[in-house]
Amino acid sequence: MKTESTSKPADQADADAIVVSVRDGGPLPPAAAELDRAAAGLLQRLVASGEISTRELSCTRLPGVSGIKAGVVLVVGLGKPPSSAANHGREGLAYRAAATAARMLAARPRKSVAFALDLHPLEDIVAGAITGCVGQDLYRHDKNITSFERLLFAGALADDLHRGGSLGHSINLARRLVNQPPSEIFPESFAEEVQRVAQGCGCTAEIWDRHRLEKERCGALLAVAKGSDREPRLAIIDWQGNPGGGPPLALVGKGVTFDSGGLSLKPADAMLDMKMDMAGAATVLGAIQTIAQLKLPVNVTGYMGLVENMVSGRSYRVGDVLVARSGKTIEVHNTDAEGRLVLADVLDVALSRGVARIVDLATLTGACMVALGKHVVGGMTNHQAWYDRVAAAAASVGESVWQLPMFAEYADQIKGQVADIKNVGDGRWGGAITAAKFLEQFVGDTPWVHLDIAGPAFLDKPLPWCDGGATGYMLRTLVELASSLASGQD
Ligand code: BES
Ligand code: MN
Ligand code: ZN
Repeated sequence: MKTESTSKPADQADADAIVVSVRDGGPLPPAAAELDRAAAGLLQRLVASGEISTRELSCTRLPGVSGIKAGVVLVVGLGKPPSSAANHGREGLAYRAAATAARMLAARPRKSVAFALDLHPLEDIVAGAITGCVGQDLYRHDKNITSFERLLFAGALADDLHRGGSLGHSINLARRLVNQPPSEIFPESFAEEVQRVAQGCGCTAEIWDRHRLEKERCGALLAVAKGSDREPRLAIIDWQGNPGGGPPLALVGKGVTFDSGGLSLKPADAMLDMKMDMAGAATVLGAIQTIAQLKLPVNVTGYMGLVENMVSGRSYRVGDVLVARSGKTIEVHNTDAEGRLVLADVLDVALSRGVARIVDLATLTGACMVALGKHVVGGMTNHQAWYDRVAAAAASVGESVWQLPMFAEYADQIKGQVADIKNVGDGRWGGAITAAKFLEQFVGDTPWVHLDIAGPAFLDKPLPWCDGGATGYMLRTLVELASSLASGQD
């Protein structure tokens, strides 16, 4: 996929297809107006007759319009004009509109597509175009989605192409890792991807194998790994964008490469998509790749706890008592509540290496989807001001996060009988929060935000702007958060 800038008028665009936008009311935006003039008022007439819809994200395909060089014109509706410019127009519409158009056009092979959307920022259009034309059909011979060879962007600066290109490719990296089957992406192979990414973007990587994890007494993570023939790993990737600039931001990801549930085995339909249980780790890896490629002047370390949760004669059991790296003892009441066990040790490693702030991402609980649905991330924290920073970053890129409470009484539910704590609450009520209260035990006083991405990380059916499967949700938020730290809004 090659991206380039174009300054040609829309009707002269040197591409197989051109994408322009229209809104409710008002005159046509510049690129659509150019096409309209070249096509003797065709667009105006079609909008007036309702044949072209201005509804948000509706797409109208016009093939073979005379007077226009591109073989296909795709008109994307953007709905109502923005009510205020307070947010610099950045509420995710640029990303979603570009991705929607790209996905629609990628339904059949096309060499080149030009984007002339009346939206900002341009980097989001670039990123959306790159992710929209890539799908989950990695192993299908008869492709549902074929990516373009050339993507042209009207009026883009080199910086827009660089930033948007990096974001788009990192989102696609995270999506690919999640969409690939667990026979290919397992702790060792994921750790190799971390090493490859680090080498490519000027980061350092450190991989802990079983021996090191034992030496570090990561008893909770290792217990989850016991039932699997796959060796566990902890992958650490470090970007030093501000050498000598103080302790880093830690991004911690759950990387369960397949979650069978263990001896508390999942039913078949609940197990089906559990290759996606490493989406937190994949998102962390992709975000750090872009933070490094953009050379953001900030120190960020990614920690990815990589294990497979399987069933065997060596599996950890219900009733087992684990000693976490922090020294806390944990009673296992359900081997399917494994993510919090993995994260307990990974958070402790991050803490002991000295971090200023933490964000963890995890496909942690089905309960979070019961609370918030499939399309909203659950956010929980021990530090409101830090949460507000993360929420502001999410809002500015248009990713949806909703805060859940962390009242002390939820912690009563995870008190243990024979050990300090147990790995599930009493019953299933408030399950997203009791999971967060468990994690809170391992972060001390460090400002920490937990993002439960169980819903948005993976789609069972496509959205207009994203094929089914992995989404890379929250990656743009993490990059935005790092740039807000870098630009000293500290
Ligand atoms: N990985 C799952 C959570 C999940 C479920 C993510 C569905 C995405 C879609 C997690 O390890 C899990 O199994 N959680 C249990 C916890 C329970 C046993 C307390 C759950 O949510 O049922
Ligand atoms: Mn589980
Ligand atoms: Zn899991």
